[in-house]
This record gives sequence, structure tokens and C-alpha cells, in this order.
Amino acid sequence: MRVAYEPRLRLWLLTGTSTAYAVRLDADDCVRHVHWGAPVTVEEAAALVGQEPPDPAASSFEEKAGADELPVEGGAHFGPAALQVRWADLGRGIEWKYLGHEIVEDAHLRIDLADRHYPLTVKLHYRMRGDVVERWTEVTNTGHEPVTLQRCDSAAWTVPAGPRRLSHLVGAWNSEFRLRRGELAAAETVLTSRRGLTSHHANPWLALDDGTAGEEHGEVWSTALAWSGSWRVTVQRDPGGRTGWTGGFGHEGLTWTLTAGETLRTPVFAGVYSTAGFGGVSRTWHAYIRANILPHPEELRPVLYNSWEATHFDVDEAGQIALARRAAEVGAEMFVMDDGWFGRRANERKGLGDWTPNPERFPHGLTNLVAAVRQSGMKFGIWVEPEMVNPDSDLYREHPDWVLHTANRRRTEMRHQLVLNLARPDVRDWTHAWLDRLVGEHGIDFLKWDCNRPFTEAGWPGHADPDRVYLDHTRAVHQIMDRLRAGHPGLRIESCAGGGGRADLGILARTDQVWPSDNTDPIDRIAIQNGFAQVFPAQVMGAWVTDSPNVTTARSTPLRFRFHVSMAGVLGLGGDLTTWTPDELEEAADLVREYKRVRPVVQHGTAYRLTGAGTLTGVQYTLNDDHVILAWLPSRPYGHTPGPLPLSAVEAGAVYRDLDTGRTYQGAVLQEKGLPLDMPAGDHASALVRLTRLP
Ligand code: DGJ
Repeated sequence: MRVAYEPRLRLWLLTGTSTAYAVRLDADDCVRHVHWGAPVTVEEAAALVGQEPPDPAASSFEEKAGADELPVEGGAHFGPAALQVRWADLGRGIEWKYLGHEIVEDAHLRIDLADRHYPLTVKLHYRMRGDVVERWTEVTNTGHEPVTLQRCDSAAWTVPAGPRRLSHLVGAWNSEFRLRRGELAAAETVLTSRRGLTSHHANPWLALDDGTAGEEHGEVWSTALAWSGSWRVTVQRDPGGRTGWTGGFGHEGLTWTLTAGETLRTPVFAGVYSTAGFGGVSRTWHAYIRANILPHPEELRPVLYNSWEATHFDVDEAGQIALARRAAEVGAEMFVMDDGWFGRRANERKGLGDWTPNPERFPHGLTNLVAAVRQSGMKFGIWVEPEMVNPDSDLYREHPDWVLHTANRRRTEMRHQLVLNLARPDVRDWTHAWLDRLVGEHGIDFLKWDCNRPFTEAGWPGHADPDRVYLDHTRAVHQIMDRLRAGHPGLRIESCAGGGGRADLGILARTDQVWPSDNTDPIDRIAIQNGFAQVFPAQVMGAWVTDSPNVTTARSTPLRFRFHVSMAGVLGLGGDLTTWTPDELEEAADLVREYKRVRPVVQHGTAYRLTGAGTLTGVQYTLNDDHVILAWLPSRPYGHTPGPLPLSAVEAGAVYRDLDTGRTYQGAVLQEKGLPLDMPAGDHASALVRLTRLP
């Protein structure tokens, strides 16, 4: 049994592969935190009662042991409330009453609570999957009058007191997933998106350690929220080092009304504890995502070609067929036509929403292009942006009321577009219908689902509970994807939002890969990929090789370097192949072949981030006895020779052979001293090494 109950102390213990999580019911019927860390027995967990990590939000005069698992307004609690309710009589706050619990299945515990006075039940869910604790909350209005929720988080987390360092991801368009690591302020630190999207600027992932953890050692706690809309995580640390955080969907200021009998279920907020440092945390996330989130983790992702950087909006049948032929010659397995194929979409100002092929650009509809792509032996994918509309479109002229808007306010345009209100059932059904038709008519293999702007004026005039749009729009996106996948089992989807604006555990449950950034410069990508891979595995990390100089940064880099950076994820091609020289095309074809050789290890292996001297970094993927090492040296100051790169995932007593050179290495030497790298001279040098462990 992976959930144990100790009735005397009213204590529950969830046990994972190498971690444990314990909570207990206090005398006031509040569920309090006991332990999140190394495995413990029920007796040991019981012995921890009274010594729990203290609550950073409790009154300093009357300290209670153990922080609340879902802090509410009311009582001597002064931190951010995870559940905030305003009752029909305008009273607020909650006083807990325990109703019971159920061990729903082997590793899933549900604790049922209610308010002592008002008609509301709250179910706290805990499910242990491997070493990941999944938590979510269900709130039901059991009365006859509406109840207003001013906050309804999925879970609150507590870690032992002590110095704390916060790792999180920040960014912007073209610079997503930048890892920041620094001392946690003795304050409330809010990580949030108010954009209706997961966002480029912050990601609902974080990690906490005591400041001493490293890549492969030390205790780290980490959480990630499975939600693709607005969200908020508030981390709280007091001057004494007591630390906890609460998080869930929606940003501050939104309210949701629960009508009589209605239930609101939050997204999963998942937590990882590891003693193997930041690398250990990442590997636990990767394993969890593969085992529990991705629809098809077992599949190798194809090498795709995407037309965006080659043509931008300038797409037509002949041009796309020419690119497709080149892409197939280089070894691409899927051709993806990007923006510009429909309506009057000659630029970003018009046509969005009119989802029929432009008759001048595609006189045969998509038929000829799809046939040519298939004849070249590739699958066919296409770009769509289902949540958006240009005001200059037939769709908007016909349905101006279908967009998010607020009475008496301007409709803010971004990239000349507005957001469709997919929370409306008619808009959601219309969206599903055209996507279903498009995919069905052409047997489309892959949708690049884009979303190029955040919400503004996100009202819903005429609706009794307008802030619902923040929940229901996101749910509608998830539902449409689920319905499409169910109707077209062969369909695969890429999550894109102007680059990496929508990467989270919620979207990954119905997509197959993510486009992490519009910035394809390999130097910038090393940092972007490093941040992305803190939580997401290589098999969902789209990475195109594009032209040099790069369209975004104007930086020139060698083809081989560009490939070696992209090979750390799902390799793609994104440049204008019609301008590549025969030598470049040949080299590219060789490198694509090389990628296909290492792809099973990269996409299905276990990842270890590597750091060498100077600017040298890399990643080691291991699968059974096979190892793939990709190493990058962006710049080489005078006198610097890229030293050997120490490997993390090798055994001291074992011997490894380089599959290309035949050279053998002692595991202990690879660990301590490192792998010698055969790198070209100068900046932008890189290497790919394939090792196998000898029996
Ligand atoms: C933003 C995406 O990230 C790009 O790759 C491209 O698809 C454009 N949108 C198209 O408008």
C-alpha cells in the first residue's frame, strides 16, 4: 500500500520510489504538513509530528507546528490564502470540518473536508506517481446560494526551514526559459502569468534548495503546475527561513462564482523531491512526463522541416513543393507548412480566422502540396492559430462578438489580432469543426498549434461569471485538442505560442512536442534549451537548424555547430534550403543521418547536463549501455583549449568505447578528468561523441 493511515494521529503517509509525503489532521480539523522528503516509515512519520517545518504564515505569538496544506482565510494565518471564499451573506473565511478520507486506489488519497457552518465541501487529492506527488483540489457548493471563490489553488507546499535559494524560469519572446537561481527574498515572491497563457515571461515551475545543491548532489524540492492559462504561485519566506508556497490557476483579482451544486476542480500541481541535485530533479520530471503525461512517449519524433524562416507569409504551392523536395533530400521526415496558406493572409494584418486555402496561392487547395510531400516520402503538417482572428477577416466581420471583449473598452490589438472566446460553446464547437474538417480532408499528420498574443479586455459580456473565461478558454483549448486526437488517432500536435509561450504539464498531456522559442540562434538556444530541459524532456523540445546569419540575431555560426545544438532535442530544419550550397546540403544530410543514429538515445534516454572549463557545456544522454554526448563551445578566449569534459553518467569500474574512433576510456577517468573532445579551432566549436559501455 503506498498510502498508509495512522488513525491515532490521524496521519497519512504516501510513499514513492525514493520519497515520502506525510500530512495529518490537527485538532482543529485542518490538514497540516508533516513531511516531504526522504522515505520514512509510518512510525518515523508519527515521530515527526510536533517537529514539522513551521508555517511561515503563522502568528509569531502563537506558533503552531505544521503549515496548512491548503491555507484559507481565517484564524491566525497571515500568508497568502490558497482558498478564499466570500459567502452569499458576504462573510468570508473557512473553518474546517473533517468529513472523512478515502484511499481511492493504491497511491491516491482523498481527504474530504467541509466548512463548519457554510455549505461547501473541499476535497484534497494526493496521488503518488513514481517520485512525483500530484495534488489538486475539488470545491463543491452544496448549498442553494452562489458562493464566490476569490482564490482556489491546487495545493500549498512546505519545505524545512533554513536558508533557501529559488530557481525559476524567466524570459520574453525570443528569450524564453532563462534559468535564474538566487537567494529567496524574505518576502512574498510572486511568479505569475496574467496573460491567459502559460507565458514566455515565467513558467509555473520552480525549484528550491538550501543554496548548496549542485547539478548532481543535494536536496532539491520542485513543483510544476499543469495549467496552460493564467496562473499564480506565491512563495513565502520569513526572516527565520521558514518557506512555503501556494499555487494554482488564475491570477490575482479574478473571481469565480460556484452556483448551487457546482464543483470546481483545479489542475494538478505536482511536486518532486530529490537528493540528486538539479539534475536529479530534472530526470524525475522527465521520467514522470514520459510515464504519465505524454500521449505517445514511446514514439520517436520525426525530423521535420518547417517553412517559416524560409518564406514567412510568402507561401504558395510551387514554393512549398520546392522546399519540400529539398527537405526530403536532406532527410526530413515531415514537412510543415507554416503561416500564410489561408484566407487573405499575405501578412500579419489580415485573414486570420478564414481557414480555407488561399485560391491564388493554392489553386488546387492543399491537394497538390500534400500529394507532393507524401510522394517525397514525408508526412504533412500545417500551421494553425485556432484561438485568434484578425479584425480584417471574414470571420470577424461576421462574428465581432466572438472575441474576448469588455463593454465600453477598446479592443487592444496585438500583432493586429484579437482572441476568440473559446469559452463560448458555439465558438469552441466551430473551432473544433473546422480543424476536424481540415485534418480529415487531407489526412494531416501534424498541427503546429500557435497562439501569438495574450488576453486583454478578457470579459464575457452577458455572462453571469465573466472571469470564467480564464478557466474555460484554457479548458476549451485542451478539450479541442483531446477531441481532435480522439477523432484522428494518427494526429500529432506541436504546442507553440509565439515561440515558447505555452509549455506546461497541462498542454503536454495533449501535444507531442513544444516549440521553445522563435529564436533559433544556436548560442541563445543553448541557454533556452538548458532552461527548458530543467523540467521538460528532450523528446518534446523542438529544435530547428536554420540559416546563417541567423534571422533573429544576425550571428553567423557553422552548420555543424547549429546541428549539434539542435541535436540535443527533436531535430528539425527551418532555413531556406533553396539558398544552401550543394556542400551545405550534403553536410546537412550527413548530420541528419547522424542524428537519426543517435535519436533513440537522445529522445528516450536519460539526460545529464555537463559543464566543462570556460564556456564549454554539454549534455549526456544515456540509454542502457549507449551514451551520446553533445558538447558546445560558444567562444574560446586566447590560450584556452577546451579541456576534457567530465561525464556524470559513467561507472567508475566500467570501460567505454567511442563508436566512431574505437578509442576506449576508463569510467573513472571520464568521471574525474573527463572526455577529451576533438573540436575544430575557433569559436562555435562543437562535438558529438557516441560511447558504449563494454560488457
Ligand atoms: C510564431 C511562431 O513561433 C513561428 O514559428 C511562426 O509560426 C509564426 N508565429 C507564424 O506567424
